[in-house]
Amino acid sequence: MSVILPSLPAAASARVSDVVNTLSEREQIEAAAALHGTPVMLLDCDVIRSQYRALRQALPEAAAHFALKPLPHPAVVKTLLQEGANFDLATNGEVDLVEKAGVPGGKTIHTHPIKRDSDIRHALRYGCTVFVIDNSNELEKFIPYRDEAELLIRLSFRNADAYSDLSKKFGCSPEGALELIQQAHRLGIHIKGLSFHVGSQTADPQKYVTAIRTCGEVFQRATALGLPKLSTLDIGGGFPVHYIDQVPAIQEFCVPIREALAEFPETVDVISEPGRFIVAPAIISVASVMGQAERDGKTWYYLDDGLYGSFSGMIYDHAVYPVEALNNVGEQFPSVLAGPTCDSIDVITEDIMLPKLKNGDLVIGRMMGAYTAASASEFNFFPKAKIVVLNEPTDLLL
Ligand SMILES: Cc1ncc(COP(=O)(O)O)c(C=O)c1O
Repeated sequence: MSVILPSLPAAASARVSDVVNTLSEREQIEAAAALHGTPVMLLDCDVIRSQYRALRQALPEAAAHFALKPLPHPAVVKTLLQEGANFDLATNGEVDLVEKAGVPGGKTIHTHPIKRDSDIRHALRYGCTVFVIDNSNELEKFIPYRDEAELLIRLSFRNADAYSDLSKKFGCSPEGALELIQQAHRLGIHIKGLSFHVGSQTADPQKYVTAIRTCGEVFQRATALGLPKLSTLDIGGGFPVHYIDQVPAIQEFCVPIREALAEFPETVDVISEPGRFIVAPAIISVASVMGQAERDGKTWYYLDDGLYGSFSGMIYDHAVYPVEALNNVGEQFPSVLAGPTCDSIDVITEDIMLPKLKNGDLVIGRMMGAYTAASASEFNFFPKAKIVVLNEPTDLLL
């Protein structure tokens, strides 16, 4: 059950974190911590709205299917549904979440390249009929469903610079895609088009341009072979956000992508699967100092949240979040922020300047919406942060 707090004032920019430092927001964070305890995460649906709108404006030709994996939360789904978004699902749990939130199956695609027969049936029963494959074994799983399912073939584009290179484990070559299109044709299975993911938090838009152009060549080669026309290009997720290192603004980032897409005939439907870009700026995490010690000239602060909790993305997602004391005033000293567990790996940062903090003082993490709560655990029985929702869509209040 979501908890509703009084609204934060709508942020002028998309980063909820940017508005925290004024007194009233600080007071609201303190109030949330006092009411709910810590660790707690403040999820602002207004930021979800502004991120979605910014991406749609920057890339109007690509219908956005929000990828649930970075933050599978009902308030996010409801907010985006009201904005007119579509959804990218990968598991039965995600199917169940969107179904419960009232998303029509026709607004969804299923993009996990490896599925059990029961997963395919679960999605079809719900009404999701577009699936992703990248190999012949997976293609054959669709023989019994060839009258209801349509497929996208995922191509691989390796990207060592991304936070997460999503083409190591999945995706085929252009030649492999052409072979699959031919095999599908023989089997009477409809191939709708191609998809790819250039890697999560991709800072260079040329990665998309290369992938789009390669897909364009596969479209042309399929036509030249007399195969049925491909009608959809899915350019995946990967759109970057500003953690510590600057990235281009989304409008600027999408200019070369739009130019590459313009080379496709207008009859081709372009879709995208943004995850991180929509949700990363929408959460501020709030933790308390549990205790402290002086070690090697630095003050170690032990928080009630760490790498096994909300900061799990530091391990799984290779992310580094902007972290600071909520009351960040006064002389600053070299400090370390550690998580609560007994494991030595559980250190958020060993190199941070902080004012002298007391036990019970609050430390906030910014840009904490993507791949954080989603992969948090309760190792050592330290409870996961509670998610408190701000500016939730009105029908959820009923
Ligand atoms: C198939 C697929 N689509 C979309 C996404 C979302 O990517 P991002 O969060 O980089 O936008 C992922 C992330 O793992 C994915 O695997």
